[in-house]
Amino acid sequence: MNAFTYRKNNLYAEGVAVSRLAETYGTPLYIYSRNHFREQYRVLSKAMAGARPLICYSVKANSNAAVVKTFLDENAGLDIVSGGELFRALRVGADPSKIVFAGVGKTRDEIEYAIRENILFFTVESEPEAARISECAKKLRRKARIAFRVNPDVDPRTHKYISTGKKENKFGLDAERMVKACEWAGSLPNIEIAGLHMHIGSQILSVQPFCHALEKLTNICTSLKKRFPAFRYLDIGGGIGIRYRPDQPELTPELYAKTLVPLIKKTGLSIVMEPGRFLVGNGGILVCRVQYIKDNPFKKFVVVDAGMNDLIRPSLYDAHHEVLAVTRNSGTIRGDLVGPICESGDFIAKDRNLPVVKENDLLAVQSAGAYGFVMSSNYNSRPRAAEVMVDGTRSTLVRKRETMKDIVSGEIITAKQTGIRSRIGRK
Ligand code: LLP
Repeated sequence: MNAFTYRKNNLYAEGVAVSRLAETYGTPLYIYSRNHFREQYRVLSKAMAGARPLICYSVKANSNAAVVKTFLDENAGLDIVSGGELFRALRVGADPSKIVFAGVGKTRDEIEYAIRENILFFTVESEPEAARISECAKKLRRKARIAFRVNPDVDPRTHKYISTGKKENKFGLDAERMVKACEWAGSLPNIEIAGLHMHIGSQILSVQPFCHALEKLTNICTSLKKRFPAFRYLDIGGGIGIRYRPDQPELTPELYAKTLVPLIKKTGLSIVMEPGRFLVGNGGILVCRVQYIKDNPFKKFVVVDAGMNDLIRPSLYDAHHEVLAVTRNSGTIRGDLVGPICESGDFIAKDRNLPVVKENDLLAVQSAGAYGFVMSSNYNSRPRAAEVMVDGTRSTLVRKRETMKDIVSGEIITAKQTGIRSRIGRK
């Protein structure tokens, strides 16, 4: 489903005019489509039905409570990577028995929090982490379920920063070491070897890397199943890519499922999946307003009120995001779409054919539903954007725009500086 379409040259988010939302809530503004999220979830579950997976939405992709709740309402589980994400999950009523906890650097506090809440399992990245989980579980007089993450050493052919299953990456344990690691961890007090995990990277557009990785895991699963009576889960991670350009080839859930389901069924294990981007990426846009059109002898710049602090993907990964005019017109101009931040790395689109715009016009940056707002910051002391959820013809503000007061609220002015405070107070 494409939730963002034109009606008589005006861009709509489902049944609501984007311009109206921008007027009401201001810019920069993230707008999400609840029906896009639901439909992506349903398409994936339908395609994967043969493997009956527990689909754990990867909260890191977009952790807004309204987004997480949308997936909980579809019966999803959750994939989390921090105590903060666990807190968010529980706050919106997630069932801990459908939560899996990943990440290379879990602290004792985070581990104990998750054990107390009795999550489904930890995906474990190293032997020292297994030892730490064992200690925490012992202290709490509980048993912790773990699934070691395998690093299958396959190239997912994605950006190097989001490739995670090659041997030089910090993630997982190599396949050769896996059985030994499980035997050792299985002998620790209060640890149950519950399964195996893999996640080879993100924005993967071909099925082969998943296939190669799974083939490497199948034998390990067979030997672990024999050794550990509680061994029953195979977590195949996330990583299914989406279309950022209209002409980009797609990895459809149908092809993904057709290729992988026979392989995973052979293992006889319960399947867990951790999709993030696939579920939310194309269900969000970032709306911004043109501030200035600037020409220099070499280039044209369209300066907008959203910067790398709002959407860092172009600066960090050279990521491509389509840019649409909220009120469509014909013609394009060649140039850079840039933000207000004091860095040349602050751009949303570089050397691109952009819609013809003038000061105050609205632009919509596409495919901003995943790793958009969640990676935003207050750099340059810019309050973070508001977020709105659209469902049919209804729109709801699901995160208020930050105020200047919000961004300084954690800072402490010491006694010596009270003069400063009183001057601010008078303003
Ligand atoms: N499971 C684990 C263990 C992960 O590390 C990730 C993403 C996922 C699942 C979800 O992956 P997805 O289905 O979304 O590909 N900020 C980057 C993406 C980083 C992905 C980190 N891990 C970007 O904007 O492209």
